[in-house]
Amino acid sequence: MRVLVTGGAGFIGANFVHQTVAERPDTQVTVLDALTYAGNPTSLAPLGDAVTLVQGDVADTGLVDRLVTETDLVVHFAAESHNDNSLEDPFPFVRTNLVGTFTLLEAVRRHGVRYHHISTDEVYGDLELDDPGRFTEDTPYNPSSPYSSTKAGSDLLVRAWVRSFGIQATLSNCSNNYGPYQHVEKFIPRQITNVLSGIRPKLYGQGHNVRDWIHVEDHNTAVWTIIDKGRPGETYLIGADGEMDNRSVVEMILELTGRPADAYDLVADRPGHDLRYAIDSTKLRTELGWTPRYPSFHDGLAATVDWYRTHQDWWQADKAAVEARYARTGQ
Ligand code: NAD
Ligand code: TYD
Repeated sequence: MRVLVTGGAGFIGANFVHQTVAERPDTQVTVLDALTYAGNPTSLAPLGDAVTLVQGDVADTGLVDRLVTETDLVVHFAAESHNDNSLEDPFPFVRTNLVGTFTLLEAVRRHGVRYHHISTDEVYGDLELDDPGRFTEDTPYNPSSPYSSTKAGSDLLVRAWVRSFGIQATLSNCSNNYGPYQHVEKFIPRQITNVLSGIRPKLYGQGHNVRDWIHVEDHNTAVWTIIDKGRPGETYLIGADGEMDNRSVVEMILELTGRPADAYDLVADRPGHDLRYAIDSTKLRTELGWTPRYPSFHDGLAATVDWYRTHQDWWQADKAAVEARYARTGQ
């Protein structure tokens, strides 16, 4: 099978490519990635010739059309992915997340190619901290930020292309990922690399916001499960019961790195900051039989701390610029 992975030089996409090469040797992988600030070709370097990397834009109609004629399956990870950036400049989010997805959908429609759409639980908005509920596939869309609204719009495009044009597509909405190769702008790698650089971790607001953490390897086994066994046109929520407030995550990082539990700073909150995300992944587990490889967040986090400790060459070049950017907003 030939698979075209968009955004395969980014965090989740690169992990997907590593997992695919290691566990599905009959699959031929081509990556389409614009190599924005978030795309790092060195994440794929250990794979050598096993992967073909094409540098290009998912909104480039001609290039996308040619690549789609040469594949059996498109897995669409490429996106502008960081909420804080979307508050500063939403335009790239509209262009990549909406126009890019539209461009891919038109190409798979023309050529009858199978498509899997990667999305986020943030399309559902947020839950109260004391709400016993969790998101399900039936929760109404209610996105808060430019990032989550453009992801919501891209999901709706896919659903419309399924209904109106009969494309062969599945969708997944996953909770917050952590693991190797995640850009240091994001919460967990930012705090790990802060500690490794002698900087105190930074918590927005009071650190009470809750995220539902899943190891990136588990996200990707779920994606392959949906591609292999999911019903056409269906949406599956992906989550591993990893709810935790941000303060507890930072305390765990401090514990794993041998620092005092209170060695962090509270900084300016994010405007419109979603309070809590939580996923009910019953459909994925019961219908498709998926289970996570990392049921313990503590074990997954310990492995991630080790990865950043032993891969300083991978992240050092970005660290100072990311911290200078956060300093401008008092974060
Ligand atoms: P990332 O920012 O690390 O990687 C995005 C990749 O897309 C980069 O390699 C970048 O160069 C590439 N890209 C950006 N614009 C492009 C364009 N116009 N054309 C081609 N390539 C382009 O993001 P990530 O965290 O790996 O997220 C991947 C996908 O998973 C996104 O669709 C995101 O919405 C979704 N998702 C992320 C999470 C999470 O916790 N990170 C959770 C659920 C869903
Ligand atoms: P983030 O990794 O940006 O993911 P998302 O906004 O998609 O959930 O942030 C995760 C949580 O961590 C979110 O509640 C914001 C918070 N946060 C901090 O407290 N400090 C930080 O330095 C960052 C980057 C995020």
